[in-house]
Amino acid sequence: MPRPRRSAALVALLLVTAGCTGPASDGDGTAPAVNPTASPPSSASGSDPSAITYADTIRPMLEDACLACHGRWFPQASLSMDTRDGLIEGGRSGPAVLPGEPDKGWLIHSITVEDGRYRMPPVGDRLTPEQVSLVRRWIAAGAR
Ligand code: HEC
Repeated sequence: MPRPRRSAALVALLLVTAGCTGPASDGDGTAPAVNPTASPPSSASGSDPSAITYADTIRPMLEDACLACHGRWFPQASLSMDTRDGLIEGGRSGPAVLPGEPDKGWLIHSITVEDGRYRMPPVGDRLTPEQVSLVRRWIAAGAR
């Protein structure tokens, strides 16, 4: 009966993990090719709410204001905003986002409420009214 080859398995795991550091860049510093018919990012602030996505619009805002405390590792109140799913799953108090229902869930509450323990961020600059409006429209359009 051969012993399990733990070291080989570990090496394989490390190789897989190393492979996850992202695609190699083509070196010329240009952005990846985008669909030329896709809407430009500026449309996120225009009239089509479906152009607002977590990855392109919402996460960059949360990254500055929230992710230091609500990131992937040991997030405050168990609320990780690192992914859209994390927001929907929510934290200690329940879902932060309910797709289609911008006035429910803790996310809008926390960025609009004037006072209280869930006023966020606890210190420092809050999201601007324009950013709050983007978040609201993103949720209303289904939070994709
Ligand atoms: C400096 C750290 C810090 C930052 C930055 C921060 N939070 Fe928090 N957040 C907390 C803490 C601490 C709590 C728990 C508060 C309590 O339970 O009294 C919390 C709780 C919350 C909750 C309630 C979660 C639950 O389920 O109970 C929400 C929603 C929330 N934060 C949203 C945000 C948003 C949105 C931002 C960015 C605009 C943000 N937070 C930025 C520290 C932070």
